Amino acid sequence: MSLFDRIVVASIPMIPKFVVGKVAAPYVAGESLEDGLRTARALNSKGIMATMDVLGEFVHEKDKAEASVKQYLDLIAGIARDKLDANISVKLTAMGLDIDPQYVRQNVRKIMSAASGHGMFVRIDMEDSPRTDETIRIYREMRQESRCGLVVQAYLKRTSDDVRKLCEEGPSNFRLCKGIYVEPEAIAYKGKQEIRDNFMLLLDQMFTAGAYVGIATHDEYLTKAAEELIKKHKLTRDKYEFQMLLGVKPDLRDALVSRGHRLRVYVPFGESWYGYCTRRLKENPAIAGYVAKAMIGLN
Ligand code: FDA
Repeated sequence: MSLFDRIVVASIPMIPKFVVGKVAAPYVAGESLEDGLRTARALNSKGIMATMDVLGEFVHEKDKAEASVKQYLDLIAGIARDKLDANISVKLTAMGLDIDPQYVRQNVRKIMSAASGHGMFVRIDMEDSPRTDETIRIYREMRQESRCGLVVQAYLKRTSDDVRKLCEEGPSNFRLCKGIYVEPEAIAYKGKQEIRDNFMLLLDQMFTAGAYVGIATHDEYLTKAAEELIKKHKLTRDKYEFQMLLGVKPDLRDALVSRGHRLRVYVPFGESWYGYCTRRLKENPAIAGYVAKAMIGLN
């Protein structure tokens, strides 16, 4: 990261909201349910599937968790009504994970049961490491009743063990990603290449165990290695999919689709777009230059 990028990233909290909105607009479908559904429809028309996320996380009040559940119920109804090729992704902290263990389960069950009513799959996003155990426990319980899958993070040293145990217990469905939170060195790989190496070890482990995998990355090194592994395991296209975030690397996305892979785009929408966008900006300092330009009105 250049010094300039570091300075801009460190200054993100001070950047006016409208500038963040302008720069980060490609990463969010909009504020309303209709914005989200429209984006999913546009992706579907290009042969791309969607997983939809109502923005919001780390909720500590029950009324906010309930508002989130309600938005998901409306989303499920909207996807079903419009017959979209889309499923949903949920963050357990938006459902009350930090409020009460029984309460979050009640909320997740409401969503799972509404989704199941339409034969819809639910992906449980993985958040930061203090929440990993409970997130896995909830996935274990929910998968007895509903079609759902879990996100696992290649940067965590524990992930291979978690994957082994889950695969031994039953059919598993994972989204494999590098991981987005800042974690202590004691529990997480830090080097770019060691995270990639673990990503590929995990992918091989999952394919060998017969798990379904959403390969979630924009790293061309990994998409290439994954394509080779898919060939090596002689997998048909219904056994895996690639996944990417809305607005990130559309060229790579289109290239994967043109080579015959199934691809799903993560479509976030909602009023809590600001936190998501600032995280995207921090994650990709190359965007810092665009922030600077937007601030002085060049784009
Ligand atoms: P890397 O970060 O090396 O990016 C490769 C290249 O892609 C970069 O050089 C850049 O050009 C581009 N790029 C990547 N991210 C970008 C961005 N945000 N904006 C602009 N350009 C970008 N994490 C997590 O902890 N829990 C979760 O539940 C999820 N869920 C999830 C779903 C989906 C569908 C995806 C694609 C990712 C996640 N993630 C996640 C995030 C994931 O852990 C990771 O932080 C990002 O995908 C970035 O990692 P890459 O593998 O893309 O590599």
